[in-house]
Amino acid sequence: MHNDLEKILFTEQEIANRVKEMADVINKDFENRPITLVVILKGSAIFAADLVRHLTSDIDIEFIRLSSYGNGSVSSQKVDIIGGLNFDVNGKNIIVVEDIIDTGTTLSKFKEIILSQNPESLKICSLLNKPARRVSVIEADYKGFDIENEFVVGYGLDYAQKYRNLPYIGVLKRSVYEK
Ligand code: PRP
Repeated sequence: MHNDLEKILFTEQEIANRVKEMADVINKDFENRPITLVVILKGSAIFAADLVRHLTSDIDIEFIRLSSYGNGSVSSQKVDIIGGLNFDVNGKNIIVVEDIIDTGTTLSKFKEIILSQNPESLKICSLLNKPARRVSVIEADYKGFDIENEFVVGYGLDYAQKYRNLPYIGVLKRSVYEK
């Protein structure tokens, strides 16, 4: 385990098993209908790369970067797509892939943007869910694990851009982010 971690929450094997289970559910739901996976960078890239290899539909993968900013209050936070939405949503089966839903602000705003473009269907797939911090009303259709209100890193999740490459997910020591 990395020295900066307090404990491991999900091992590499546990994550792999859960990702496969999530893909199995998606495969059943979509019955080989084509899917456009919309991957929200950066954190979700690792999860999406593993998930997509278990999906049996024809898959189109789009990567987007979001910037969120506001005037200090979470409810007034705005979410913009960096570079705009530069792919077709109209008539597509969209699955948005996230590594974590925390306050829910990012996804609830992004969901509005996608819905305004008339997709055939829209589903949310998130590896982690942290319900204790939720501000916006949003739930994933496909969810990996519920977690407590702890600072998690690894498997794509970062602190100050570090730890994304850890193959497992763990809790960061307080001393690391409070120094
Ligand atoms: C994280 C995560 C989600 C968002 C969730 O991204 O990947 O996009 O925060 O938070 P919310 O539910 O409170 O809106 P981050 O902005 O850290 O970018 P990154 O993936 O590039 O690290």
